[in-house]
Amino acid sequence: MPTKAEFNINIENYLRVQRDLIDRHFKTLLDDNKYTNPKELWDPVKYSLFNGGKRVRGILCLATYESIIENKLSCEDIDYDCKTVACSIELIHAMSLIHDDLPSMDNDDFRRGKPSNHKAFGEATAILAGDAMLSLAFQLVAENTKKISKEQKNEIVKFLSRAFTLGLVPGQILDLLPIKEKNNLKTIENIATLKTAELIKASVMCGASIANKYEANNPDIKKALSHIESFGLKIGVAFQIIDDILDVTSDTKTLGKTSGKDEKQNKSTYPFVIGIESSKKMAQDLVLDAKSELKRIPIESPVLYSLADYILNRIS
Ligand code: IPE
Ligand code: IPE
Ligand code: MG
Ligand code: MG
Ligand code: MG
Repeated sequence: MPTKAEFNINIENYLRVQRDLIDRHFKTLLDDNKYTNPKELWDPVKYSLFNGGKRVRGILCLATYESIIENKLSCEDIDYDCKTVACSIELIHAMSLIHDDLPSMDNDDFRRGKPSNHKAFGEATAILAGDAMLSLAFQLVAENTKKISKEQKNEIVKFLSRAFTLGLVPGQILDLLPIKEKNNLKTIENIATLKTAELIKASVMCGASIANKYEANNPDIKKALSHIESFGLKIGVAFQIIDDILDVTSDTKTLGKTSGKDEKQNKSTYPFVIGIESSKKMAQDLVLDAKSELKRIPIESPVLYSLADYILNRIS
């Protein structure tokens, strides 16, 4: 029986609206000559930013912010700041995909239904586009926020930089280990946590940090933060489990990226180590657990419940 907080979200609709919001904000932020020349750099950057990503991480940032701020003081400028940070998160994510697809990494020719960045523009350009995107993510936090305090900016930079330096990159390095060294549950759990869940956790924490402008001294909110953090980590691992399952069970057209790639690349994945059914069960349990974290916070967050379900049930 769903709780009151779980009712009434049309998730597909919600995702579409939030995705449009992020895309429009991206266009506003990048509508500047300095992000046009040289086109040899910025065209490839825009190619990988406006190519149909689901925007799950940016949306999680917005959704967490909205859940906390709901029915309280809301202001356009702070909404603006949250959208900027959502764009920063999506920049980090998108550049990680460009580098993940490189021939020296996963050697993947397709991404989001189109040739991957290095296929379209060449390897050297893809590396440099990724470099610019990573740096731009932090530049936007510094330059394109209006109302958040210095302390909040600091916290956001800390969440995002740590998710990358101590999460995504170490996770990607471990993912390159020979398969015999990572053919066990403990290792793939560690890799999934680092390469994927840490950035998803940071996304919800950034949303919470921005919302806290009006709630800094609220003890309920402070207590809620550790549950929100665990929520992010759990749905983050579930996200990677489902990604691994879809690589086996879906097709290239639906995924928009090459299916069956993990086996070809000798990757150790959840289905490889524990089988598809156990992987599904593990993702379901993680999402259940994640939702029980939400039940322990005094915030109505129907959309976060729905997003957790979406992560489990998604087909691409
Ligand atoms: C793919 O992420 C990479 C993983 C961490 C599994 P997404 O499935 O969120 O990719 P896009 O942004 O929607 O293309
Ligand atoms: C990538 O994991 C995780 C990143 C941090 C980029 P995968 O290699 O499984 O992602 P896909 O399947 O290529 O999107
Ligand atoms: Mg990879
Ligand atoms: Mg890959
Ligand atoms: Mg994958």
